Amino acid sequence: MFSLDFYQLLKIHQRIKSPKVKLFGVYLANLFGFRHYSVRVDPALHCNLECRMCYFSDSEWKKKYKGLLTVEEMKGIAKMLFPKALQVVVGCGAEPTIHKNFMTLIEEANAYGVPNVSMVTNGLLLTAEQLERMAQLKLKELIISLHGVNKETYEKMMTKGEHEKFLELMQMLKDLRSKYDYPKVRINYTVNKENLEDLKDFFKVYGSYPIDVIQIRPVMEIGGVYSESIVESQRELYDEIIAEFRSQSEAKNIKFLVNTKDVEYKADNSNSDLISALYWYVSPRIAAQLGLSWVNNNYKDYLKATNWRKLVRESIFSVKKTEKATDRFLKYEWV
Ligand SMILES: C[S@@+](CC[C@H](N)C(=O)[O-])C[C@H]1O[C@@H](n2cnc3c(N)ncnc32)[C@H](O)[C@@H]1O
Ligand code: SF4
Repeated sequence: MFSLDFYQLLKIHQRIKSPKVKLFGVYLANLFGFRHYSVRVDPALHCNLECRMCYFSDSEWKKKYKGLLTVEEMKGIAKMLFPKALQVVVGCGAEPTIHKNFMTLIEEANAYGVPNVSMVTNGLLLTAEQLERMAQLKLKELIISLHGVNKETYEKMMTKGEHEKFLELMQMLKDLRSKYDYPKVRINYTVNKENLEDLKDFFKVYGSYPIDVIQIRPVMEIGGVYSESIVESQRELYDEIIAEFRSQSEAKNIKFLVNTKDVEYKADNSNSDLISALYWYVSPRIAAQLGLSWVNNNYKDYLKATNWRKLVRESIFSVKKTEKATDRFLKYEWV
């Protein structure tokens, strides 16, 4: 069946300028039953790390937010939401590999024919067997977080992480990709005042591993113990590093996503309503919040519980700009 990958969709998104036109298209896709949204599932609200820029470094947050989906619930979520999903991302706000059955979500997405299935993870708990299973299931993309290139910065920023383990993961991926085309590997680097300099060594340290996409994303204030963004005096270095990444990426055929225009996330994002309409978030806490049962309810019940159609209609016809947390999404430029 005809399907577009995430990066082709991103290009289309950038070509159609009017957010309302895009939103109207999404609304029609919903009415006519086409695949049109991205489901982001956190099977577990836990993490093996306490990255300094992430809320998992806040012990109060950790105490408050927890929970696991059961396998039965994962299957219920898949039945309810995957048949019309254009994308399923396993992991979103926590660490999916903490759940011993996280693979169920990838298997279900595969069984329901979702065209874009990916996982976002720190990768440190993954085994060679799990990676092989992902390759067999043709997982499109494994998105791996990296907050420091060299050991010292890596272990400082990714508290409880071990750089040797990360290198082992990259080696396992290299071995895997000598046998399979999938999963493609994307590195998400959250850049801040202290780990910017490290990026100069990126290709020296990781140049021999199979990396297909790199995203450099300036740090956001999300409740971590550290959130210092790059400072004005580092701006020149940031631009130099980005220029080097552009040229290396072109030479190595790597897709490069970067935010250079709005490093502090101050500008309005005219696509925030669209993003809210497209990103459907599921975690162990959501069913109770919506008054739903993943096992006993269906897709129509979900639309009703979230008020999706009414909210999208209101966004299409309203003139007022709404401020949402999603304003900071998609702030990277296509290179
Ligand atoms: C919260 S993590 C959850 C998924 C998984 N544990 C991981 O680290 O990839 C989701 C994404 O947020 C990024 N991230 C963490 N802290 C951030 C911050 N303060 N600003 C921007 N992105 C951040 C991570 O690098 C990762 O790509
Ligand atoms: S960024 Fe990911 S790996 Fe790091 S603490 Fe947050 S959830 Fe865990």
